[in-house]
Amino acid sequence: MNLRAILNERFSRAFEKATGEALPPQIQLSGRPEFGDYQANGAMAAAKALKQNPRAIAQQVVDAAEVDDLAERLEVAGPGFINIHLKPGFLTAALTEPPITAAVTPEKVVVDYSSPNLAKEMHVGHLRSTIIGDAIARILEALGHDVIRQNHVGDWGTQFGMLIAYLEESGEDSDELADLEVFYRASKQRFDSDPAFAERARQRVVALQAGDPATRDLWQRFIDISLSHCQATYDRLDVTLTRADVMAESAYNDDLEAVVADLKARELLTTSDGAQCVFLDEFKGKDGKPLPVIVQKSDGGYLYATTDLAAVRYRVRVLDADRALYSTDARQTLHFRQIFAVAEAAGFTGNRISLEHQPFGAMLGRDGKPFKTRDGGVVKLNDLLDEAVTRATSLVAAKSPDLPEAEREMIARAVGIGAVKYADLSKNRTSDYLFDWDQMLSFDGNTAPYLQYAYSRIQSIFRRGSVDPSDLTADVLLAGEAERALAVVLLRLQEVLEQVAREGFPHLLCAWLYELATAFMRFYEACPILNAEEPARASRLALCRITGERLSLGLSLLGIQTVPRM
Ligand code: ARG
Repeated sequence: MNLRAILNERFSRAFEKATGEALPPQIQLSGRPEFGDYQANGAMAAAKALKQNPRAIAQQVVDAAEVDDLAERLEVAGPGFINIHLKPGFLTAALTEPPITAAVTPEKVVVDYSSPNLAKEMHVGHLRSTIIGDAIARILEALGHDVIRQNHVGDWGTQFGMLIAYLEESGEDSDELADLEVFYRASKQRFDSDPAFAERARQRVVALQAGDPATRDLWQRFIDISLSHCQATYDRLDVTLTRADVMAESAYNDDLEAVVADLKARELLTTSDGAQCVFLDEFKGKDGKPLPVIVQKSDGGYLYATTDLAAVRYRVRVLDADRALYSTDARQTLHFRQIFAVAEAAGFTGNRISLEHQPFGAMLGRDGKPFKTRDGGVVKLNDLLDEAVTRATSLVAAKSPDLPEAEREMIARAVGIGAVKYADLSKNRTSDYLFDWDQMLSFDGNTAPYLQYAYSRIQSIFRRGSVDPSDLTADVLLAGEAERALAVVLLRLQEVLEQVAREGFPHLLCAWLYELATAFMRFYEACPILNAEEPARASRLALCRITGERLSLGLSLLGIQTVPRM
């Protein structure tokens, strides 16, 4: 149930009834409990538009509002705010409903994420796209949308000639293949030091593009190895991508000629220095000169942009998608603006698909510079995850030395991986973020360990009381302020998820989770649970159960696990 949407609808009607005009009610959360649970703040803007007194309008809206089933009290405050105090009985009933309701009009949504270049092993540069995209995909799915994951991996281009030549030379049993970074470096070194090898590498590129079977075969084997490296990382990270979601750049090879022909037919192409370019008026460089989108080089080769245009066409024509979301770093913003504009001009979007780039900032080290290894190299994702688990292992050993080792290992994995993911997801993706081990593994503040701990705390209440949470079905009585505040937070999940699905900001879900855990801790401190008298005891235990379920649900939508104790 989306409480905000319900209030929005009711108050839209009230505004219309009161003023005769369709005016936005501006439903917002209240900052403080004495101002109610929500507020309708549209009276001020309405007063301006209608040249009337805002408090008078607010009062008319209050008189016109039909909210007896939801609200126990509406009051006009300050310059014309309407404070909405929800009915405890309404909150109690709402808590018995499922936490998420599916969209009335489900959409088909392509989520293009992770999409590493397969020439090298996944490194920290792929982390953000992989986990942000995965959270978005999970959330859309939870809301009943039809999600099509597309891992647009880079598997084409000149680098592969070098890798194929080296694979041929070193064989598939080469130890170097266990670590693609090592393999890449070794082949690059061969390439730079041996002209005969470099020549073989160049021939391989030509042969690959010409479809030579033996070369294709070697290439395919390299791609397979690289994809299994990726898959191992996805599995470790609890990322839902599978091999079936791979839709590689090379899959569009056969479409590229047609894309260029379509652009030509639409008279969008200009030849510039022998290259085929699209110039659109809206794209100008700093010097005011028009900025081209190059779709074919003078040697006939195609580019990243051409492939992305083919991908748009495919997503519209074959996948029949309503939306396509692209999770990449902000440096590709211009690229996507151009691709979307060219696709629109060329008629590839069919006036139907909504193309949305969801950019994110860079990952920085504690020194505020791009995150690197001590000697300045790229940090491999696997090494980063190893370190996360190692750090979490010592943390868990120090905190819970009495737990069996196997359980501690499981906890360390959930906490370590969860911490890395949550630290990223909890920040507004548009800004750069500081990667800080101590902060992300802290049990205080907006971190995965804090939330996982809150969850395990709830489970430990059940253990101490020897209760089975599935039996805790009593109505939640909202007697005290802390209980009521917790209930209102619990009921906001749907509105938060809908906003994340619309705007692509998982940090909003994190903020909700943190608020939920904090509201729970306040309730826990204010109200005895196991020692309370009935019916408060059953009611509070039920509130614990619902909180635990939604904490773990929210975390699972971010791909983060909870553990029963820690
Ligand atoms: N492979 C690209 C990179 O590593 C990301 C691809 C993103 N998706 C897309 N459709 N262009 O930067």
